[in-house]
Amino acid sequence: MNTRVGTIGNAAPLVADAAPMIDPFGRAVTYLRVSVTDRCDFRCTYCMAENMTFLPKKDLLTLEELDRLCSAFIAKGVRKIRLTGGEPLVRKNIMYLVRQLGRQIGSGLEELTVTTNGSQLARHAEELYDCGVRRINVSLDTLDPEKFRRVTRWGDFAKVIEGIDAAQRAGLKIKLNAVALKDFNEAEMPDMLRFAHGRGMDLTVIETMPMGEIEEDRTDQYLPLSKLRADLERQFTFTDIDYQTGGPARYVRVAETGGRLGFITPLTHNFCESCNRVRLTCTGTLYMCLGQNDAADLRAALRSTEYDGLLHAAIDEAITRKPKGHDFIIDRTHNRPAVARHMSVTGG
Ligand code: 5AD
Ligand code: SF4
Repeated sequence: MNTRVGTIGNAAPLVADAAPMIDPFGRAVTYLRVSVTDRCDFRCTYCMAENMTFLPKKDLLTLEELDRLCSAFIAKGVRKIRLTGGEPLVRKNIMYLVRQLGRQIGSGLEELTVTTNGSQLARHAEELYDCGVRRINVSLDTLDPEKFRRVTRWGDFAKVIEGIDAAQRAGLKIKLNAVALKDFNEAEMPDMLRFAHGRGMDLTVIETMPMGEIEEDRTDQYLPLSKLRADLERQFTFTDIDYQTGGPARYVRVAETGGRLGFITPLTHNFCESCNRVRLTCTGTLYMCLGQNDAADLRAALRSTEYDGLLHAAIDEAITRKPKGHDFIIDRTHNRPAVARHMSVTGG
């Protein structure tokens, strides 16, 4: 429901507690993920092709525009915002947006988080904390520097560890995200679990999703988490817990380490029933589902007038189109992914 009409630009909210937006399937949309750039300083093999073409810079919304869009979502009941990419910390002056959004924590917004590959984290960690960020996700698929270089195509593992160190020193809580890749990190998972939990970090494993053209065959990379879980349970004791972070992960407590392990299983499980999120790209396109192609252009509404009423109406219209669930199927006839855009466009 639109309880707020008539905010101009970044004007202070008229209503502190907007009623949440409700989609056609009764789900409240309270979580916005924002891909602030499609660029990244890595080229993970499951995510990107080596020679990716990125958006021309002139197509990007400015950080002021992104702030105004995010503020409209907060006004409409969004409680949690995650900045992603690409790699969010490679966007020039990104801390401006983090600071602006951080100011809204406590008045509408409840949490601001960031998903990062860690490469630039060492120099941003303290400022992130200072802006009000308390939890971040760091993507890390292996603990072996050589394998890390291979999977990211040129990433420096030591830099990421420096970033993790700095973030923990700054007081940020970290969750590690590892994409489960057959024959790549399958055997390493017990070590990754001990590493994460030994440092007080949660670990979440993610199934690869068929998004965008890459150079490798995705079916070669795919490792069902049911198998990974069964393998891990030979060494560790899991208890299902109903811990929720607003995301789609299901968590277990690991008796041996005392830590939490999450599973994100978009392919083997339907995680859509409790979906509370929508995704905004750096060009102002809103995707109502990670696994569908339908989208709404918010840039036109944003740029047409200073008055936010049109923008709110465009958001409302988009929410009526939020689909029941995703449809990740590899199109075998043409051997291409059902979702043509890369994860770096919409953010993970
Ligand atoms: N499938 C699953 N996860 C992916 N990520 C990027 N591309 C894919 C994909 N095709 C992950 C990143 C990061 C998170 C944001 O999404 O590794 O951890
Ligand atoms: Fe960059 Fe993340 Fe994609 Fe790797 S998975 S190329 S770090 S956006």
